[in-house]
Amino acid sequence: MSEGKAVLVTGAAGGIGRATCERLAANGWQVLAADYDAGKLAWAEGKANISAIAVDVSSEADNARMAAEAQARFGGLDAAALNAGIGGGGSIDDLPFAEFQRILGVNLVGPVLGVRAALPLLRKRGNGAIAITSSTMGVAGDSENWAYSMTKHALIGLVRSLAREIGWEGIRINALCPGPTKTAIAGMEGMDGVVEDNLPPHYHVLKRQVPLQRWADPDEMASVIEFLISPAASYVNGHALVADGGAVTGSGLMAPKASAAPTYPADLKEQA
Ligand SMILES: NC(=O)c1ccc[n+]([C@@H]2O[C@H](COP(=O)([O-])OP(=O)(O)OC[C@H]3O[C@@H](n4cnc5c(N)ncnc54)[C@H](O)[C@@H]3O)[C@@H](O)[C@H]2O)c1
Repeated sequence: MSEGKAVLVTGAAGGIGRATCERLAANGWQVLAADYDAGKLAWAEGKANISAIAVDVSSEADNARMAAEAQARFGGLDAAALNAGIGGGGSIDDLPFAEFQRILGVNLVGPVLGVRAALPLLRKRGNGAIAITSSTMGVAGDSENWAYSMTKHALIGLVRSLAREIGWEGIRINALCPGPTKTAIAGMEGMDGVVEDNLPPHYHVLKRQVPLQRWADPDEMASVIEFLISPAASYVNGHALVADGGAVTGSGLMAPKASAAPTYPADLKEQA
């Protein structure tokens, strides 16, 4: 338990962010849950240990407002989970420039501004920790996902560099690199309880790339974020922790070993 410790979580209306808020609040953290989507933050209303704030993480003014709220509520911060992110596929020829800038704004500028806003509050408490959500696409590239992938690679550069810059202050910074996780960003919102054969084809395609042969539940990412900001990870700094069921372990030339009877729909069996 982490009674009385204060944490900021961004992207808190989404799958991984919400699971992180719920897990941390249940374990005694005081949580400031931040997201762009004020309506989707309604889940936090009346929840013990959780307060919500609507912010655009790509805005410097909103990050200042978020920090002021954490200061007013908690008098500082013990941890920040900078987790907000958006997807964005498109070829190098076709991705609209405005969309490219939006991806940079949320996925890259957002965490930089978040660190800048959180640091003075972490310094007040001492021994703070930051966890930034990158991706398996932060350690490997993917066709028509270059914009998303480059932002997620850059976050690992940010984490490694800042670990060397602020470590002396007792503040740790690490990245989580999730694999396919059942959330809206992955097209899986509202898919809980849907029978396997009715899930979208990409669910089955990606599942086959994961040695564990399944997608992650959001709480399996929340537990890694909790670890990274907890004293259990007190000597972990500047690390990119890949939690992907083993997906990026391979050369990419051969599929991982699967059961003899893969559970994906008939149309995908033809492509296999
Ligand atoms: N789900 C996956 O398979 C997967 C895999 C790798 C990495 N990730 C990363 O995990 C993180 C969380 O994503 P998720 O899977 O929970 O997706 P999600 O779409 O469910 O949640 C993302 C949240 O970020 C919020 N957000 C978007 N733009 C924002 C902005 N400008 N300001 C504030 N909040 C904003 C959204 O409103 C949403 O609630 C993201 O950084 C994502 O890139 C997810």
